[in-house]
Amino acid sequence: MPETVFIRTFGCQMNLADSDLIRSMLAGDGYRMTDDESVADIVLLNTCAVRENAVGKIMNHLDALKGRKRARPGLLVGVIGCVPQYYREKMFDMSEVIDFLGGPDSYRHLSSLIDAAREGRRSADLEFVPDETYADIEPWRSGRISAFLPVMRGCNNMCAFCVVPFTRGRERSRPQQSVLDEVKRLSLAGYREVTLLGQNVNSYMDHASGTSFAGLLEQVSQAAPGMRIRFTTSHPKDISRSLVEVIARYSNVCNALHLPVQSGSSRMLDIMNRGHDRSEYLERIAMIRELVPGIALSTDLIAGFCGETEADHHETLSLLEEVRYDYAYTFYYSVRPGTSAASRLEDSVPLDEKKRRLSEIIELQNRISSEQFAGDIGRELDVLAESESKRSSRQLMGRSDTNRVVVFDRGAFNPGNEVRVRIDAATSATLIGSPVKS
Ligand code: SAM
Ligand code: SF4
Ligand code: F3S
Repeated sequence: MPETVFIRTFGCQMNLADSDLIRSMLAGDGYRMTDDESVADIVLLNTCAVRENAVGKIMNHLDALKGRKRARPGLLVGVIGCVPQYYREKMFDMSEVIDFLGGPDSYRHLSSLIDAAREGRRSADLEFVPDETYADIEPWRSGRISAFLPVMRGCNNMCAFCVVPFTRGRERSRPQQSVLDEVKRLSLAGYREVTLLGQNVNSYMDHASGTSFAGLLEQVSQAAPGMRIRFTTSHPKDISRSLVEVIARYSNVCNALHLPVQSGSSRMLDIMNRGHDRSEYLERIAMIRELVPGIALSTDLIAGFCGETEADHHETLSLLEEVRYDYAYTFYYSVRPGTSAASRLEDSVPLDEKKRRLSEIIELQNRISSEQFAGDIGRELDVLAESESKRSSRQLMGRSDTNRVVVFDRGAFNPGNEVRVRIDAATSATLIGSPVKS
């Protein structure tokens, strides 16, 4: 009987995509995948270290696995991804249930780590492999409509607060031909949407051909004209006019851009080492909106970074009013040992104050999101249906080209259909409508 593997994924879309690569490689090595943790012989936790509470969640899960391990003596537990890469071998001391550790560049060797653990050896593979992109691995595909496609891995930026350069290593890009081949396969298999992924997709570079991300996006768009093309994440300092022109020129490249700003204060942006100030960011936003009117923008924000004053915080609030994002993913600052902020700056804003600033940001953004979404009432939008809505099988949930979530009466439609929907109502996170009769 082949051994069964269950993978629980924490963290960002890169981790979700990695879990599908791992499923494919382990299935190739003869393991059977399961969605039921209780029957698994091997449990893998694919982990995130970006904030302290992300690590806390994993520690809680490891605690919960203690009982399961007692009840099922042969059960092996592997911790993989960003947390073991960050804590290295000392992770073994953090929980006795861990049998093996694997960093983000170790996934080709997971079955050897499992074999060693079966022989009673606790081992770790935490080496960075500078050119590893897993380009030759066809991922396991959990969905049938929308797929993630990592085009680059790692990050060469050194934002003062961030662990990612330490957990993912140096930037490397996948060869453009392997990206195009995978997009064509997805299109032939009936996928309707692909999201090109990277921590900083704008610094994609195929060194052999000199193709930049703008060039790659254009080729992907041409290779799969029937598919929607999305991408994330874009770093504001690297967003080029030529990239925005590709979004404007190709109708299948979605009109939505995630452009994390982190703070509205130039002083904070400098301390964070983001490589641009407030006015440069706003100039980019103006260029984007001039070339792609109606584009939906989203962002990430950190409240209470080292040395942030009330005046800096108010600059963040005023930036939200000025840009009017659709969404903001908001966090309060969490010190990450090993980052430059942790070693050279004081975590000066008390936790209560960080939380107060964060709640002001969330409250303001919720109001702006509601206003942005209400602007779609009365409009007709093309919605790619993804699934039944959570509330009722008589409704479908999908997304507009601008990445807004739309719930609509199902009629004769199914997930995977693109449906013209008239918007009748809106909340701060969802549009509600009905299909337009043609
Ligand atoms: N590469 C993307 C970029 O440049 O914006 C984002 C990567 S990070 C995985 C996602 C978000 O987590 C960041 O944009 C930032 O807002 C947040 N983040 C990263 N480190 C953090 C920290 N130490 N405390 C709180 N939030 C943090
Ligand atoms: Fe982290 Fe900055 Fe790299 Fe984004 S660009 S992953 S925030 S270091
Ligand atoms: Fe977390 Fe690693 Fe992604 S630290 S956000 S899972 S790259």
